[in-house]
Amino acid sequence: MSTPNQQGINEPPTHHGGLENLDTEYSYTIEDYEGVVPADLHGTFFRNGPGRQRIGKEKYGHWFDGDGMLCAFTFRDGKVHFKNAYVRTPKYMAETEAQTIRYRGFGTQVPGGMFANLGKTPANPANTNTIYHGGKLFALNEGGHPWEVDPRDLSTVGEYNYSGELQRGQVFSAHGRVHPASGDYINFGAGISGITLKGPQPVLNIYRINPTGRLFTKGQLSLDNFPFCHDFVITNNYAIFFIGSIVFKGMGGVLLGRKTISDVVAYDPAINMKIHVVDLNNLHLVKTFETDHGAIVHFGNAYEHNQEIVVDAMYQDGFAANASLTNVFHPDSKFNGGIYKRYILNMETGKVSESQVSPTESEFPTFDTRLTGQASTVCYTACSVDNGANGFFNGIQRVTSDGDCTLVTLPPGMYGSEPLFAPSTNSSTEDDGYILEVVYNGFEHISELQVLRADNLNDLVCRLPLKHHLPHQFHGYFTAQTFC
Ligand SMILES: [Fe+2]
Repeated sequence: MSTPNQQGINEPPTHHGGLENLDTEYSYTIEDYEGVVPADLHGTFFRNGPGRQRIGKEKYGHWFDGDGMLCAFTFRDGKVHFKNAYVRTPKYMAETEAQTIRYRGFGTQVPGGMFANLGKTPANPANTNTIYHGGKLFALNEGGHPWEVDPRDLSTVGEYNYSGELQRGQVFSAHGRVHPASGDYINFGAGISGITLKGPQPVLNIYRINPTGRLFTKGQLSLDNFPFCHDFVITNNYAIFFIGSIVFKGMGGVLLGRKTISDVVAYDPAINMKIHVVDLNNLHLVKTFETDHGAIVHFGNAYEHNQEIVVDAMYQDGFAANASLTNVFHPDSKFNGGIYKRYILNMETGKVSESQVSPTESEFPTFDTRLTGQASTVCYTACSVDNGANGFFNGIQRVTSDGDCTLVTLPPGMYGSEPLFAPSTNSSTEDDGYILEVVYNGFEHISELQVLRADNLNDLVCRLPLKHHLPHQFHGYFTAQTFC
């Protein structure tokens, strides 16, 4: 509903309703919708995100700490089926039964003060992303191992460690990339290589997993500090990590139970951004570039062009947004995008150049992943546009490599999400397919899936309303396979 402001003028609803819990698990075919479900859209659109921000009378201390809830939209024969289910992690099970906070999180403490948190590591809520690879569906969060989920009914199979190759403490990021030529899945995780007189030595562990799901190569990249490294890119031959200016300082306070990890993450402009290029075959460091301070949370695509590597990235020059993430229901909480930049790394000269690609605040970039690591020409991003209700993403854009931007803004009171590309059946060219975007309708407190033509975002093909809302989620994955 609209809410009168102090002048008595009705204002559109904020995005906050889209952060409320969805505690019920559903499975149904969407019967009533507008438009036509494309006959050439076949497959499953999985999404992941925190399904709840409250437990009993408590609120979690950070958006990142809500329990992972997978959902699946299955497109088959012109019909769409929806289902959702929580990942049954130990945290989810214990807190559901107790109806209070039982585990620490990224920004959440167990009630009871320092001694209730002393020495306890944050739980893995399995809430950030999802991937179907090696015949298995995973729910991913960078604070732990993958959680395997049955793609047929989203029931939880269990925590997964690739036959013991992912050892205890070797975490696995939410943003792996599938290398199209080999079908291998490349992922990484923050860790320590040991403890010296200087203290724990930060590293990134890098993993390469073949199409049958065997983790067959590991690498390790030494770092200067403990960064917030959430995403990376690959090209045909390289994995590229941007180690930026958002760092964790004072982890001792976390170990002692006095502070959360969120309390000690900070943007330090004295730290330049280092860009490490790693050989994908042996996972050894090839070259390091250095540029001004900055941070990249999410990347678009990357590719090699002669002696250069081109990388699309969403740039931030601060991390003030973390305050909003720690108090998501606060009226002033606001989720900002970044600046869409293109970096060019010259492997011969060692020079880095950068340029701004889009004038619109952008985040959650996606592209046609059949072209991962190769020269692609189109990227789609979630945007935040000032339409009188821009506390959250409220638009999407299609950006071509020559900088042409098509921006589609939602009406005030409607809030968007990561726009994910799904190729149409028999599609063989980039951009031939659909953009799938979940939209939260603050007026009705329900969500819908919008299907748009990828090559023309103004062509809204169909709107598929759910029977309920979907809490704002992070990331998704589309596969041409169906499972039910
Ligand atoms: Fe992410």
